[in-house]
Amino acid sequence: MANLHQFDVVVVGAGGAGLMAGLYASRGAKTAVISKLYPTRSHTGAAQGGISAALGNLEEDSVEWHTYDSVKGSDYLGDQDAIEFMCQEAPQAILELEHMGLPFDRTPEGKISQRPFGGHTNNVTGKPVRRACHAADRTGHMILQTLYQQCLKNKVNFFDEYQVLDLLIVEGKAAGVVAVELATGELHTFHAKAVIFATGGHGRIFEVTSNAYAYTGDGAAICLRHGLPLQDMEFFQFHPTGIYKLGILITEGVRGEGGVLINGQGERFMPKYAPTVKDLASRDVVSRAIYTEISEGRGINGKNYVYLDIRPESVKKYAALDGRTNPDGTPYTLSGEDILKKIPDIIDFCRVYLGVDPITQMMPIQPTAHYTMGGIPTNKYGEVVLDDQNTLLPGLFAAGECACVSIHGANRLGTNSLLDLVVFGKYAGLRAAEYAQNAGFAALPVEPETASRAQFEALRNGSGRENAFDIATEMKKVMFDLVGIYRSEAGMQQAVEKVRALKARYQQVRVADSGKIFNTELLNAWELGNMLEVAEVVAECALNRKESRGGHSREDYPNRDDQEWLKHTLARRQDGKLVIEYKPVTITRYQPKARVY
Ligand code: FUM
Repeated sequence: MANLHQFDVVVVGAGGAGLMAGLYASRGAKTAVISKLYPTRSHTGAAQGGISAALGNLEEDSVEWHTYDSVKGSDYLGDQDAIEFMCQEAPQAILELEHMGLPFDRTPEGKISQRPFGGHTNNVTGKPVRRACHAADRTGHMILQTLYQQCLKNKVNFFDEYQVLDLLIVEGKAAGVVAVELATGELHTFHAKAVIFATGGHGRIFEVTSNAYAYTGDGAAICLRHGLPLQDMEFFQFHPTGIYKLGILITEGVRGEGGVLINGQGERFMPKYAPTVKDLASRDVVSRAIYTEISEGRGINGKNYVYLDIRPESVKKYAALDGRTNPDGTPYTLSGEDILKKIPDIIDFCRVYLGVDPITQMMPIQPTAHYTMGGIPTNKYGEVVLDDQNTLLPGLFAAGECACVSIHGANRLGTNSLLDLVVFGKYAGLRAAEYAQNAGFAALPVEPETASRAQFEALRNGSGRENAFDIATEMKKVMFDLVGIYRSEAGMQQAVEKVRALKARYQQVRVADSGKIFNTELLNAWELGNMLEVAEVVAECALNRKESRGGHSREDYPNRDDQEWLKHTLARRQDGKLVIEYKPVTITRYQPKARVY
């Protein structure tokens, strides 16, 4: 077997979850991290506004409030034991990052600075609370840099620019992965006792998205091909503020710092939809509000966008109306200089991509496909579970956006994603190392790369006339238009049929570049296969769930239906067909009630 490597633990993906998992696994086991990107280019770097923890550095806060907000934000679909665990771990996780060297912004007294974010509330007053710890608007980027340095220090073995193509399962246990080295086109087998998938989400299945090009659902698609289940795939989050048409994220931190949403009539519209928290309602609520404003003709100049306004005079005016003050009780204001310091990347993005200066002009925004709530089902130690009995697949772990623990349920609160990947990346790494210490290496098949080679050869040698880019463009439009913020039976049925037709056309895709070195055309075509797999599951699961909950809003079933649908979906492929089963939601302290903002 050419290009064979052996490690106790192999982590796939080098975003925040992968790096944290790699770091913790490496403390007890020989560990490799394989990534299709150079690690610090991972999508975690796009997470801007903060990481949540009830530190209470600027005002009263508590782990209990953080827990309740996350349960409520999830529209009661999140598993409460896991949410509680994450929120309890949060303060320690932040301190650990700080001690590793993460350059958080500071209060004048030198504490870690915190800002308000959507759905983060004081549970007594219902008003926004400052819970998001941040490093300007580069929090995710700083997490990546910090964790990568720690991994290097800890001698984690990195295989950068290796695309994982397949998971090896031998006698019901994970036994390694097969990857292609992008620089040479050579296939490599990584023999391992434990495999951790930290492969990220699949936002690239949508036309307008904040997600990096790398977010093509690779880990989820590989699991589907092995008949493993995916959980709650119908739930996808649309972030309210993406740059108009481009989808690039404008952090919720802008609204946390006092920015407001304005419609085509010059009206601040969020108080109509969420009278208490207004522009800081949770993302599903704000995205739907923007959609409603636009569809009722109140977009800017009748078009499909609204404005986000953080000009100093507007911040002053709306803060006074809201009664917002600084921690010392003085009126809240923000100067142009403050804005430059707090959201420098946003200012740059707007200047570069739009020619708009947010200090003097309003930013044109529209909701953008942002976050994968569903994914590979795991318990809170990152162990992959297969069914409603939580049966484990020994040796397989998942963490971060590709996993579904489930702490985000039907809608994630902003900044809980960075917390998720730090906390559950750590526990996946710890548990995988522990598992590897007690396990042996499974005997590999003689040719572990056979399936991967066949996939590549089919794309390379195909005689069809289809173009991968055209198919991807059609899929993204279908998913954005028909399985987007608002959904209906007819639209989703159409989406399922269209994606199936695109999958059939995909069989005729022909890659023109026959080279081996950095053959990005071949790689993109392979990734498209993953996106089509995942898109079909998303559309089918959405069609199946006949209620509205969190990010899943159906025009034909506008209400949440706890009687029938307070349950997780588990979807797997069997003989080409999607089989849907269910799993109960863990409810500990908080009985479901209507969400009021
Ligand atoms: O708005 C933001 O800064 C995004 C953060 C998140 O998705 O958690």
